[in-house]
Amino acid sequence: MQKNNNFRLRSQQWFDDPSHADMTALYVERYMNQGLTREELQSGRPIIGIAQTGSDLTPCNRHHVQLAQRIKEGIRDAGGIPMEFPVHPIAEQTRRPTAALDRNLAYLGLVEILHGYPLDGVVLTTGCDKTTPACLMAAATTDLPSIVLSGGPMLDGHHKGELIGSGTVIWSSRKLLATGKIDYEGFMEMTTAASPSIGHCNTMGTALSMNALAEALGMSLPGCASIPAPYRERGQMAYATGKRICELVLNDIRPSHIMTKEAFHNAIAVASALGASTNCPPHLIAIARHMGIDLSLDDWQEVGEDIPLIVNCMPAGKHLGEGFHRAGGVPAVLHELQKSGYLHDQCETVNGKTIGEIAAKNPTHNADVIYPCTTPLKHRAGFIVLSGNFFDSAIMKMSVVGEAFKKTYLSEPGAENSFKARAIVFEGPEDYHARIEDPELNIDERCILVIRGAGTVGYPGSAEVVNMDPPSKLMKKGVTSLPCLGDGRQSGTSASPSILNMSPESAVGGGIALLQTNDILLVDLNKRSINLQIDDAELEKRRQEWTPNIPASQTPWQELYRQLVGQLSTGGCLEPATLHLKVISKDNPP
Ligand code: FES
Ligand code: MG
Repeated sequence: MQKNNNFRLRSQQWFDDPSHADMTALYVERYMNQGLTREELQSGRPIIGIAQTGSDLTPCNRHHVQLAQRIKEGIRDAGGIPMEFPVHPIAEQTRRPTAALDRNLAYLGLVEILHGYPLDGVVLTTGCDKTTPACLMAAATTDLPSIVLSGGPMLDGHHKGELIGSGTVIWSSRKLLATGKIDYEGFMEMTTAASPSIGHCNTMGTALSMNALAEALGMSLPGCASIPAPYRERGQMAYATGKRICELVLNDIRPSHIMTKEAFHNAIAVASALGASTNCPPHLIAIARHMGIDLSLDDWQEVGEDIPLIVNCMPAGKHLGEGFHRAGGVPAVLHELQKSGYLHDQCETVNGKTIGEIAAKNPTHNADVIYPCTTPLKHRAGFIVLSGNFFDSAIMKMSVVGEAFKKTYLSEPGAENSFKARAIVFEGPEDYHARIEDPELNIDERCILVIRGAGTVGYPGSAEVVNMDPPSKLMKKGVTSLPCLGDGRQSGTSASPSILNMSPESAVGGGIALLQTNDILLVDLNKRSINLQIDDAELEKRRQEWTPNIPASQTPWQELYRQLVGQLSTGGCLEPATLHLKVISKDNPP
């Protein structure tokens, strides 16, 4: 392969600098201990990092440990030298108190590795929820040539002849457990059947959504996001990705050429079309901010709300990862968006073609999985961004607002799309579990369940807890969901039409801290507002009486995180880290 530009590779500062022979010798001799020759290290071949997010602790990404072999073969065949290294693990389901706490930690660690070691480019292995944004945030900050290799979803789950999706089945079957329709054994059998193989969640939860958005941004090869983890195509994609990163290095194609504002707008359009996870807005905003691009919830509102839902995957629809892949995956979604004029065609991608060229060539193979925008599953299906007299912003995922919810809450004559509800307020998930069955709360179908203390500072990282179930006495009556509101997040696999990511959160004195049980809230989706029905004087009095109540940090990182983190509305970033440094540039030598 030929270098298109006559530039010295970054790694040559370490391995081939006769003016600093002593240091060069130290660098070269130590890497030779893996059997590399001096000739290899000093021949100006690109040194390619493989940022390994898989490990025994991160089961959703664990197969990347094997896939790395195919990445390495691709790198070698393209003339590069691979160097695999670990990324701080992020396991969505296991990490306590929240996996979200580690997105920024993994990001920081990865930035230091990319800056401080002799790497010319990097393959970012992604999969489980936060691994994808953590890697892309680091690519954005460093601007080192980078390419994403997704690990891919698990095979589809089946139980008694029905398709069941990871995560989503938990939210549905816990209702069956609560109402006594199944017991603990039945619950365990059903929920574990949803996850039949290696790979990340097979629903359109945060993992599949974020990998799809990485592809829509142009950061992975076409089709990469959806290939199920066990398929042979996954290994082939790993090989192609390894080859391609060498070409990106030799042509000096960097994340800043790919992740432009228009590319982020494409990703927002794709998110709406997918019925993507409610975690996508903070993650995408965080990646953009680290890129130095001004992206906010306003972009989600302006670009995203009008886009229709066209992908029929759980939790908004009925299919899973395998069906999505066979129907054409992300390129087919881009195709439909392009046909309706929703795509910025000219955006560059890591495969050298524009996103418009990729979209044009990839119609869907299954119109029951990927619909045309003209006859979608649902019109105007993006997130809406709400505000009100006691908070600045919150989001609601319109693609999961079902007919039952509409009928019960949004169709009062004279008040379409709005409802009044009595608030039942919980101080975090532990309080919710302790008191939800308390008869004194007198919870009925006109209540809205409120949870606070679950934001980035309050429950460090912010907890996925806003999709709360009603008390079992209501569920037994057939009321299986109530409107919910909170300063935390909810799982991307949940179909709950919750109002979440409320900012500012209660721990930093956001107005949600001032709500009291039995307050009346007026939710108006046409005006995108939620207002507390008390007078300003009363609200002010509560504000004066409020005292902060942040739980003690359990680890040094939790404490540092709390000192530095911003709100979900602006991506939950470590604020001092968003200064746009040119981390890898001539002005900032390693
Ligand atoms: Fe890891 Fe869903 S828990 S992808
Ligand atoms: Mg989650």
